[in-house]
Amino acid sequence: MMKPELRIGLVGSGFMGRCHANAFHSVGGLFDLPFEPVCETLADISEEAAAQNAASMGFARATGDWRTICTDPAIDLVAVTAPNVLHEPIVLAALSAGKHIYCEKPLSTTLKSAQCMTTAAQKAGVVTMVGFNFLRNPMIRLARELIEAGEIGEVVSFRGRHAENYMADPDAPHSFRTDPDGGGALADIGSHIISMARYLLGPITQATGQCRTIHKTRPIASGSAEHSPVLVDDVTFALVEFESGAAGTIEANWAASGRTMDLSWEITGTKGALAFSQERMNELLLCKGSGGGRTSGFTKIEAGPSHPPYGNFCPAPGHHLGFNDLKVIEVAQLIDAIGGGINPGPDFQEALEVQKVVSKIATSCS
Ligand SMILES: NC(=O)c1ccc[n+]([C@@H]2O[C@H](COP(=O)([O-])OP(=O)(O)OC[C@H]3O[C@@H](n4cnc5c(N)ncnc54)[C@H](O)[C@@H]3O)[C@@H](O)[C@H]2O)c1
Repeated sequence: MMKPELRIGLVGSGFMGRCHANAFHSVGGLFDLPFEPVCETLADISEEAAAQNAASMGFARATGDWRTICTDPAIDLVAVTAPNVLHEPIVLAALSAGKHIYCEKPLSTTLKSAQCMTTAAQKAGVVTMVGFNFLRNPMIRLARELIEAGEIGEVVSFRGRHAENYMADPDAPHSFRTDPDGGGALADIGSHIISMARYLLGPITQATGQCRTIHKTRPIASGSAEHSPVLVDDVTFALVEFESGAAGTIEANWAASGRTMDLSWEITGTKGALAFSQERMNELLLCKGSGGGRTSGFTKIEAGPSHPPYGNFCPAPGHHLGFNDLKVIEVAQLIDAIGGGINPGPDFQEALEVQKVVSKIATSCS
């Protein structure tokens, strides 16, 4: 039997836009979903860019104006992969037309804006999802289950880090990521490790940080000799406390030479510990007890079909999922929620809670 269609309007065709498109195209072959996702219209900065990318990304139509997508009755879901400063206007326009929303992280550039978007989403009564894709990893789900089952006892500490090297080069130019209105390492990648900390250990009640700008100026565009000041952080360190009583540290660092995707953490409990790095995303390390003795220490758990939904992708262990697969899982969860299933989030409310922590840390630095 033919499934009803879920018609998608996507804004942006850069790194994340292509990742979303790939997920919408492949999810139906991997998950049993209530809808058939249909890539309807792609919006980008100009008609020309949109038309060119729509062809290569498998969209039926293209537009140089995202407002067209937001008001089009032929669109059910608006996916937002435009620069952060555009999230609010696009989302508010789409919400007022009753569209479901799939928005990239961070939800917005300021706490006020994120609050406004969350209130509007609640009023609209639609399904929202924010692209904290690293939470979709079966190994992260397993970690949460192990913590909840008391396998490492009472959690006492969290040491989390999101470290990458893409701004380590002083000649890396300005972009929307260095926009003083909501940019910086803390907002950009700190939001990922904060969402992860909340997913694993629950609410963060206290947060205080130190922000540092390592490269004081950057080229205004790639290869340009003209520089302008950098007004955001390259690295931020924070001390945090969880509602559970656990304490910890969080680092957001986009100038971490040698690190390509070290979204990593170590969680210590009274009966053991867990450790993970996205650079080895198919592995979770578990230590039972104190880790003393000749053969004890961390044991490597390797991802396989016994860690759902790995089996949807591959029947054999050790063959590994990749970054794009996390986006496919995210899209599957989103479509299931639109069909009336439980929304595992992060929805706008959860993304707002993440933004509150970002804001608390940023305020303590200023
Ligand atoms: N979830 C993740 O792991 C992850 C990773 C990278 C980026 N992101 C987020 O995704 C979003 C986009 O990041 P990116 O790396 O894809 O950026 P990008 O620069 O690669 O792509 C941005 C896209 O938006 C388009 N755009 C710019 N202005 C526009 C306008 N006025 N109207 C329509 N389109 C416009 C650009 O032309 C481009 O296609 C950001 O919010 C970022 O924080 C998330």
